Amino acid sequence: MKPSNSRTRLVMGNWKMHGSLQTNAVLLDAIKAGLATSPVVGELALCVPYPYLAQAQSALAGSAVSWGAQDVSASAQGAYTGEVSAAMLKDFGCTWVLCGHSERRALHNESSAQVATKAIAALAVGLTPVVCVGETLADRDADDVECVIADQLDPILALGAESLSRLIIAYEPVWAIGTGRTATPEQAQAVHAFIRRELAGEGAGEVRILYGGSVKAANAASLFAQPDIDGALVGGASLVADEFLNIAAV
Ligand code: PGA
Repeated sequence: MKPSNSRTRLVMGNWKMHGSLQTNAVLLDAIKAGLATSPVVGELALCVPYPYLAQAQSALAGSAVSWGAQDVSASAQGAYTGEVSAAMLKDFGCTWVLCGHSERRALHNESSAQVATKAIAALAVGLTPVVCVGETLADRDADDVECVIADQLDPILALGAESLSRLIIAYEPVWAIGTGRTATPEQAQAVHAFIRRELAGEGAGEVRILYGGSVKAANAASLFAQPDIDGALVGGASLVADEFLNIAAV
């Protein structure tokens, strides 16, 4: 049984580096049209590429869908060519920003300490960081899941209860991202329960913890039924309006 508390379900799309002005317009229109007939349990959000934040803002303002970005600079401003600050994201009405997605950790060598500094930068302007953690298949095979997740969480837990209460954690096993291979609900729940215990140790047991990795309408219900899964971070399926809405309607 899920405790009834402030852990409102959140389904968040992550478009990654997909889309164009034209295809986004079609997708956003379809999502908005679908909202008229498809119920949304809890909150619905989209994290889009930086250049499309203005498009998301103008399409989604006043709708039931909030929006955000997929990364943020750890610095507030200055000579950081190519970076985008948290304040800039606020300028485009963002509510959310992903921090430390596994693709950024793997492809851009982001360390857990850097991820925490990005979360701090986001919190400083009132954005909600969605801090992503997750093990590789090698970690899982070596029975190292809790160790790896604990290491990734350490600098985040060090932020303290007040900051923790203003962020979200996303557990995304790397081996389940974009592979069609979802963690079983029991596998996911076990890690979510571990993360919640770690958070509770800092006085932040009510933080929302999303699951991510090949979530689709067909597997969302069994994931959401787990006591410590508070929603989903959805990649591929967020690019298909019906599928995305069907996940949110579960
Ligand atoms: P996926 O991606 O749903 O395509 O597996 C999830 C993510 O990387 O956030």
